Amino acid sequence: MSRTEPLVLGLGLVKAVLVAVLVVEVVGAAALSRAELPPPSVNISLDAAPEERWRPLLEVFDIDYLNKAAAEIIDTTIPKWVHHAIKPVVAALEEYMPQPYAGEIRGLASHLGGGLSDVIMLNFAYEVSAFCTSIVAQDKNGHVYHGRNLDYPHPILRNMTVNVVFLKNGKVAYQGTSFAGYVGLWTGQSPHKFTVSGDQRGTDHWWNWWKNFVSAVLYRRSPVSWLVRETLEEAENFQDAVMRLSKTPIITGVYFIVGGLRAKEGVVITRDRQGPADIWPLDPVNGNWYRVETNFDHWRPPPATDHRREAANKALNATGQAHINMDTLYQVLSLYPVCNGITVYTTIMSAATPEKYDTLVRPQGCPYTY
Ligand SMILES: *[C@@H]1O[C@H](CO)[C@@H](O)[C@H](O)[C@H]1NC(C)=O
Ligand SMILES: *[C@@H]1O[C@H](CO)[C@@H](O)[C@H](O)[C@H]1NC(C)=O
Ligand SMILES: *[C@@H]1O[C@H](CO)[C@@H](O)[C@H](O)[C@H]1NC(C)=O
Repeated sequence: MSRTEPLVLGLGLVKAVLVAVLVVEVVGAAALSRAELPPPSVNISLDAAPEERWRPLLEVFDIDYLNKAAAEIIDTTIPKWVHHAIKPVVAALEEYMPQPYAGEIRGLASHLGGGLSDVIMLNFAYEVSAFCTSIVAQDKNGHVYHGRNLDYPHPILRNMTVNVVFLKNGKVAYQGTSFAGYVGLWTGQSPHKFTVSGDQRGTDHWWNWWKNFVSAVLYRRSPVSWLVRETLEEAENFQDAVMRLSKTPIITGVYFIVGGLRAKEGVVITRDRQGPADIWPLDPVNGNWYRVETNFDHWRPPPATDHRREAANKALNATGQAHINMDTLYQVLSLYPVCNGITVYTTIMSAATPEKYDTLVRPQGCPYTY
């Protein structure tokens, strides 16, 4: 699994940031524990044809690097024999995928100069094995904050993390954090409306990747990350977003964490494929001013070896509702094991202050500390 070929990231912006961070590390010891990097940002115009709109990605990422990274992810995520067996099938099934995703994926394949089936597989490979922690919290003045850690057992994703700003008529329609080559979103905000993150439900194995794919194609169910994007694009407000995320059929179970604009607008939706299994809103009147969701149903204890939920609850209790804000929420999401060895990035957001949307990549994850 640990293939460490030297991969060249010919990307001036990221290099500049890395150099800046190195300088900071040398200059100030305090910065050592905070070597996080902002990912590059791209503007994607929804007014452009789906086949064309991801072209700006190539101004920020090196094509060779992206192709190598994609190949590595596919190689390590999907067993070789499955990879070979489904390659022709995948290419033929492309016509069954809905727009704009089919067009965007086709466009990406041509921009990257690689095979269409690889880009399709890449887009479904990320659909599984994303472990995460999401928190929605409300302060004493009714401001709602939303934070998430995205964990994925593949270090290369740290170099592929990208903030994507989707523009319509030259104005920001919605934005999120994704991986280069991936058209869906697991994290995003619709400015002045709502914020959303998705956490994987339970532990899926590679054979579910295939099940998910069949489910998407044959039953016309939406991949989770496409529903997140559609919701960001179309939902009018928090309530509307919660409805859409609760009832739209999807290819696999998931947790959706949604934050809104006003007090009490925060919820964890536990999803089955067909519809909601549970809705768990903030209940600040009764002292429930935050909700923590990792990868297990909130009404059941997590596995004995997974202490993320308890650690986050404890840290939030210690912070207190009077002191919760974007900075303190980030601190909670930086504590081991909430942040851990496979944490790729942390996003902090609040629908009421969209300009403060902030994602930081964690180059080393968070090592175990006392
Ligand atoms: C992205 O779009 C925003 C809003 O139109 C603009 O202010 C910004 O300069 C654009 N950034 C890039 C890198 O094109
Ligand atoms: C990510 O990019 C950095 C800087 O170019 C490089 O040193 C590192 O090896 C890359 N990581 C992976 C997993 O490719
Ligand atoms: C956090 O506080 C709540 C409310 O007082 C309490 O029920 C819960 O047990 C606390 N959790 C932890 C992990 O300390």
